[in-house]
Amino acid sequence: MAVREIRTLGEDCLRKTCKEVKEINERIITLVDDMFDTMYEANGVGLAAPQIGILKRIVVIDTDGNPYVLINPKILEVSGEQRGYEGCLSVPGKSGIVTRPNYAKVEATNLDGETYILEGEGLLARAICHECDHLDGVIYVDKVEGEVLDNQLLEEMMAEEE
Ligand code: NI
Repeated sequence: MAVREIRTLGEDCLRKTCKEVKEINERIITLVDDMFDTMYEANGVGLAAPQIGILKRIVVIDTDGNPYVLINPKILEVSGEQRGYEGCLSVPGKSGIVTRPNYAKVEATNLDGETYILEGEGLLARAICHECDHLDGVIYVDKVEGEVLDNQLLEEMMAEEE
């Protein structure tokens, strides 16, 4: 178990297409453990392997106290729409408005090598879409509406609105 270094916007590893995982071995299990440690340490709700420099199709998500491991995830279905602020551990201290599906259904492999289906709405759907994008080198700033803002500025704006 270890916290790994989170790569930030501008680093090449975040812009690559990641490779499928062919075999779930000890190295993959350790990698997933480290991904959870790294995500929780940074107070994130999702992390993709390329964010720690590993170009493999692996995502971890925990939006609601339920940790999910998605190996070789494939989005099967999306529907609806949600528009809201989104951030990314690879773009620290910033947020921007991104429109995402409000529902997502994804097929993935777990650490036991079993295929399973994860369905999510709201924040979980947003996290599924955001993290799967990372596996193809896509970052939320590519999809942002308007500007990416400093969280501090955003908090001040929101305080003024109240
Ligand atoms: Ni991200």
